[in-house]
Amino acid sequence: MALSDFDLVLFGGGGDLAMRKLLPAMYNRHRANDLPPAARIIAVGRHPWSHDEFLNTLEQNARPHILQDHFNDAAWESFRKRLSYVSLDASDGHTYGALAQTMRNDADNKTGTPVTRVFYLAMPPNLFATICRHLKECGLATPESRVVLEKPLGRDLASARQINHEVGQVFAESQIYRIDHYLGKETVQNLLALRFGNVLFEPLWRREWISDVQITIAEELGVGNRLDYYETAGALRDMLQNHLLQLLCIVAMEPPVSTSPNAVRDEKLKVLRSLKRFTPQMLTQNVVRGQYRSGHVDGVAVPGYRKEPNANPTSRTETFVAVKAEIDTWRWAGVPFYLRTGKRMADQLAEIVVRFKKIPHSIFARPNSSFQSNSLIISLQPDEGLQMNLMAKTPGDGMRLRPVELELDFRETFKMPRMDAYERLLLDVLRGQLTLFMRSDELEAAWEWVEPILEHWEQEGDDPLPYTAGTWGPAAASALISRDGLQWREESIPEK
Ligand code: BG6
Repeated sequence: MALSDFDLVLFGGGGDLAMRKLLPAMYNRHRANDLPPAARIIAVGRHPWSHDEFLNTLEQNARPHILQDHFNDAAWESFRKRLSYVSLDASDGHTYGALAQTMRNDADNKTGTPVTRVFYLAMPPNLFATICRHLKECGLATPESRVVLEKPLGRDLASARQINHEVGQVFAESQIYRIDHYLGKETVQNLLALRFGNVLFEPLWRREWISDVQITIAEELGVGNRLDYYETAGALRDMLQNHLLQLLCIVAMEPPVSTSPNAVRDEKLKVLRSLKRFTPQMLTQNVVRGQYRSGHVDGVAVPGYRKEPNANPTSRTETFVAVKAEIDTWRWAGVPFYLRTGKRMADQLAEIVVRFKKIPHSIFARPNSSFQSNSLIISLQPDEGLQMNLMAKTPGDGMRLRPVELELDFRETFKMPRMDAYERLLLDVLRGQLTLFMRSDELEAAWEWVEPILEHWEQEGDDPLPYTAGTWGPAAASALISRDGLQWREESIPEK
């Protein structure tokens, strides 16, 4: 669907997310000729930059994030012509005049064609309500405009509710796009295709045949230059409350009646509401938090979290969290969902592992030790693909079975240009397509479930468990799963 003309306003337009992700994403779509000729991008920020100073910053901070293969001087030059910069103090309504003057009306005065207005708030959440109020006061928040809210969407249930309420005073729910970039990843959407575009999996996708599900987002990176934000967030607020729970929803939801926004979001909401609430005893057993100490990642020595530049030397912020979640429904009762994420881990990967139950009875006389139950591995990154682990007979005399892999590499299969998650999600906002964005009740249900963990950690007052940078997290994370007689995937892969 072709896009109609738009003004995209990026609050936080000189900041890290805009430079690393949003502006490179828009450049890529410009280069692919997806943007209408008169579409504009207005970066808004606190710095009193001139237009040229903004363009210099763009050159230094955004251009390096465009893949070399995608870069082309002519496209970059014409992309820059779409950009303007407006300096304002987001918290001061008196400074919004210049933005109002820069933006076009709902209909372009010259051509009379409708102009979609999108306000992307890549800002701390405590400013969301203020910005929306000021947009309304200066007449920019019209019923046709859209607002995009970047995570973190609050820091607990109360603040998330407050944001929903205050933003809701200005924009209707259908105008609000709460972004979770994991939902824009190619393989996450492929998971929808896998589950609902094939008959093969649905009969097996339930407690009778699935033993457990593991969802891992492991990062080799540390906190980089985001320490100030991270120190107040930690792995639970930064990754578990949003990305991991959204992935869990896509794996566990019932088939929606269509891909329309509310059909999908209703099903995800049911999953979030069916998550078993943690009791105090479950919290000690089923949740592990860790913090990295110095170590080696990819052979390079790295400091511990407390020794990062400008870090608090007694910080109790967790950089790792592992949780055993359970879903109280007929489909999933008794199937553990193990979720974990961490910084400075042994590998950079995001994957979902669905493990099936053991065969009910073996007809083979000598089941050997390498006999494994089937599993399906959905790799989100860096590889994008599917791997089905099966048992097969080894050639030759006798009947010896061993595990084999059926692999589907999406890059190999579809030799086509790919889109980054932000590219796809920005296009969806500009088209008015809400399916991949969170609804207010989903957001609140996710906070409701994680809140007892946050409260428990606060009351307990203990330090997170230490783990050496470059490992898979604290030993307690292995114990969390081995208590159920299971292992994390990397622990069960035989050494080659
Ligand atoms: C962000 C978190 O939402 O996701 C970061 O704030 C994290 O801390 C990032 O590094 C991971 O995203 P991706 O797409 O690189 O896996």
